[in-house]
Amino acid sequence: MLAGLKPSTDIVERRDGQRFEPAHSDYYRGRGGRPLKLILQARHDLLSIWREGDYRDKVSSMTLFGRQLVVVNSPEAIRYVVAKRHENFERKTPQMRRALEFLLGDGLFISDGETWKQRRPLVNDIVHKNRLPFFGKIMEQTAGEMVRRWESLAEGATVNALFEMAGLTAEIIARSVFGRDLGEDAANAVSEGFESYQALIDSINIGYFLGFDEGLPVLRTPKLRRSVKRIHTIIDKVVEDHLAGRGDHDSMVELLVRRQQRSPELKLDVVALRNEAATIFMAGHETTAATLTWAWYLLSRAPWVEERLHEEIDRVCGGRAPAFDDLDDLVWCKAVIEETLRLYPPVPFLARQAREADRIGEVDVKPASLILIVPWLLHRTEAFFPDAHLFKPERFLPGQKPIPYSYIPFASGPRVCPGLQFGLNEAVLCLAILAQRFRLRLAEEHKVEPQCRLTLRPRGGIPVTLHRR
Ligand code: HEM
Repeated sequence: MLAGLKPSTDIVERRDGQRFEPAHSDYYRGRGGRPLKLILQARHDLLSIWREGDYRDKVSSMTLFGRQLVVVNSPEAIRYVVAKRHENFERKTPQMRRALEFLLGDGLFISDGETWKQRRPLVNDIVHKNRLPFFGKIMEQTAGEMVRRWESLAEGATVNALFEMAGLTAEIIARSVFGRDLGEDAANAVSEGFESYQALIDSINIGYFLGFDEGLPVLRTPKLRRSVKRIHTIIDKVVEDHLAGRGDHDSMVELLVRRQQRSPELKLDVVALRNEAATIFMAGHETTAATLTWAWYLLSRAPWVEERLHEEIDRVCGGRAPAFDDLDDLVWCKAVIEETLRLYPPVPFLARQAREADRIGEVDVKPASLILIVPWLLHRTEAFFPDAHLFKPERFLPGQKPIPYSYIPFASGPRVCPGLQFGLNEAVLCLAILAQRFRLRLAEEHKVEPQCRLTLRPRGGIPVTLHRR
């Protein structure tokens, strides 16, 4: 299964007529059996450690320094882990908890047990699909502002698609979570704070592999402290304003505050409210930004897919801007986003720590083992997706459905992403609004390299030129 160290990753990208195999790490072909090198390699690039045989329908187990690691790449076994035996596998790994606890405290993304059980329905409610038409207006307006900003640039201007999309989705989630009164400067400060936090923390906790079941705390360097303080100060101020009745009426934070006032037994104090607000902000903007950025890359290299996208937008919307109410008719736009999420799942690893001994498929699992479900592998397994490395949005047209538990960009089971509808609609709508007016073009010679940290992004972003349609 997992391989030994390789100094650098070879990236494969092929185009032949209308067959496009977008950038991915080549299969590992070197010598195995060197655990320390493996951990170091994984720390550098978690996508370059997989052999061809890992992209198969199976459950496999290995031991690293006495720590069992189980890779679950079979739909039935995934169902067992995330749904049937959810209680035994609900706990995030020490890597994830340690990496995010400084920033998110007991926020939903990393909580478990009673805290998770109590908070999950609250977060479900505030991002509930009934509220989507309201959030849809924020999406339409914010993407419209981006169109106007791009229109003010010269034809052929160069921008970095990743930074542009991160700005767009941060603004959408900031307005939805915190209300309009956050202001551009504060929204930017929070978003930059998150970015520097991600860059500073390490997603592999070496202590866990050295025998500490709970991992070791992340070193809180002055730089890390500064980025956390920046974020907390702004979010605390918003929460306090909301508590004092000075908040935006429909924002997500306001809903949380009202919940707390109705049910004081929930004990959502300022810190708990901040943790949940920060969690939604973090979980909700980075992922959608990555999705949109990958979609621009794919469209830029597959103009025949882009042409069909433009044809659909023009047919459904005519001259007016695409709106939330058009989403049901934008089936090709949706298929492009779903195929993007298959090839580049923004959360490419779902990692859990087993509470008790268990058995997954044919594999006996020890307590505290690391369980890895890897959408990156699963979504590229031929048995579930023929021509798995090729970009083919038609797989997701109405009437086509992936095998249950073979396509899980939003995870599945009780811990499924509560922002699924929000994120999916946001990505489709923003894509349609921007693509109606612009073509984004990536330079032919630019080498795109998927990079896996907490999320899967193109290393260094994607420089593109903007062309009016
Ligand atoms: C394309 C966009 C998105 C993708 C691909 C995505 C994916 C995911 C995945 C895979 C998880 C589970 C992680 C794990 O179990 O280890 C998750 C959890 C979560 N997501 Fe999303 N997400 C997206 C957008 C959003 C949005 C827009 C929001 C909020 C508005 C959001 C809020 C959350 C929260 C709060 C959790 C933690 C849930 C829990 O642990 O119970 N996500 N997301």
